[in-house]
Amino acid sequence: MLKRKDLLGLIDLNAEELTEILDVAADMKRHLKAGDKNLPYLKGKTATILFYENSTRTRTSFELAAKYLGATVINIAAGTSSVAKGETLVDTGKTLDAQLNDFLIMRHPMGGAPYLLAKVAKAGVLNAGDGMNEHPTQALLDMLTMRETFGKLDGLKVAIVGDIKHSRVAKSNLFGLKTMGAEVRMFAPETLIPKGIDKLGAKLCKTKEEALDGADVVMGLRIQLERQQAGNFPSLNEYAAFYGVDGKSLKYANPNAIVMHPGPVNRGVELTGKVIDHEKSRIEEQVFSGIAVRMAALKLLNDYREYTK
Ligand code: NCD
Repeated sequence: MLKRKDLLGLIDLNAEELTEILDVAADMKRHLKAGDKNLPYLKGKTATILFYENSTRTRTSFELAAKYLGATVINIAAGTSSVAKGETLVDTGKTLDAQLNDFLIMRHPMGGAPYLLAKVAKAGVLNAGDGMNEHPTQALLDMLTMRETFGKLDGLKVAIVGDIKHSRVAKSNLFGLKTMGAEVRMFAPETLIPKGIDKLGAKLCKTKEEALDGADVVMGLRIQLERQQAGNFPSLNEYAAFYGVDGKSLKYANPNAIVMHPGPVNRGVELTGKVIDHEKSRIEEQVFSGIAVRMAALKLLNDYREYTK
């Protein structure tokens, strides 16, 4: 049993815990595929979604996941909450506890914000992306999609190409995939590689060919212009020419390789339109896996809450 109150990051989850979440997510996917969107695991529970940053797929995915499990779901957008009136995160947490919330699902531009909320709130906290730190459910849905394709994660060669420095998705994938025995390669302009990431187990590649050579998974990441100052690379056109993945670069990869991207995609920058729509692309499957993974995370956290009551 996953013995956790919160799901904040993959850095401290072991292989057994990751496997448990992925196994339950695979079950959830089977339910969803059979048209069963009315599961009872969170009946009578309340989940509040607090997003202090933009999102389309992650927010709706969490909302659907909680609803498919029977929870009551409330949405709070930062601009409309009392945070805009100066309320601290700690006081927001206390208020949401007083309203008997069982789960708080939070996205925040500051790394560490959900960790603080988890410390003060009795409710279980799920990190839906904190600054440039972690995005655990995204990496889990990526891992589920890979595991379904290849039957395993151990030994897979995963090439992550794009804005790694500003990406919480890259970090959570690195932690989760390394724990499961995969090789994680990274390729980007030096200005978009966070210092010390190789010490955390990433294999830094000098050329696109080296990164993609024999890769099972090619994962593109968006250039996060909103988080960076100018000057990390000359122009988007030049970035696309040197670092973008096109049909030709896929020839370096394993013939059975799949292409992934957490979205939102900048068509023609990190991946060409042809690659996005390619038969190897699993981008839509990732979105579907996202609902299953979030259902699994909510169910497992809820099981532990019930167990420790
Ligand atoms: C990512 C995020 O918000 O970290 N998107 C997502 O959750 N699917 C990546 C991004 O914004 O580029």
